[in-house]
Amino acid sequence: FARIVILISGRGSNMMALVEAIERQGLPVEVAGVVSNRPEAPGLAWAQGKGIPCRTVDHHQFADRAAFDVALGDAIDELAPPSGRPWVVLAGFMRVLTEGFIARYPDRIVNIHPALLPAHPGLHTHRQALRAGALLHGATVHFVTPEVDVGPIIAQAVVPVLTGDTEEKLAARVLEMEHRLFPMVLDWLTANRVTVSAEGRALLDGSDHPSSRT
Ligand code: GAR
Repeated sequence: FARIVILISGRGSNMMALVEAIERQGLPVEVAGVVSNRPEAPGLAWAQGKGIPCRTVDHHQFADRAAFDVALGDAIDELAPPSGRPWVVLAGFMRVLTEGFIARYPDRIVNIHPALLPAHPGLHTHRQALRAGALLHGATVHFVTPEVDVGPIIAQAVVPVLTGDTEEKLAARVLEMEHRLFPMVLDWLTANRVTVSAEGRALLDGSDHPSSRT
């Protein structure tokens, strides 16, 4: 079994999609815990209800980013010992992580971002896409590196931008795809099908794909 620790900051719908996909598809993945930087995150209560070990590391309680990140890493390690090489899965986790934290989990931290990176990094991605007049928008799952939203891209899902779209309508359309994309990528990761090349690209082992059969 692969172990994962899911980091959230709020609603937690991506976390729920991951947990439910693991259950439904019987993926060999153990959710060792959920950590939130906000005690009031609605996703925490849901995870607790599921019997998943939960921790809160409230960023307000720390003097700086470095101190918060040390405590965050310690909480993760307590839930899933580093020797087991757990995956750290950012599912709506809204804090920027330091280089020191990222170095604790080399090539093991993944994030879902609600845009087609490298387009629209940062916040308010749906507003950005609408303002840019984009016809296509979507979500990206990528490895986390010290520079925000530029780590190796593992997979993307695309949705159309439709006439009359508001931020809310577009966000909902993207979110639906996030809930399909993230479990798919988790399956690849935990089956050890994804590697990062020397050039810093994520490579998917497609040897079991029908198109590669002879
Ligand atoms: C999701 O749309 C996720 O892609 C985004 O926050 C939302 C969280 O929703 N993440 C980021 O913007 C990361 N910078 P959720 O809590 O319901 O999963």
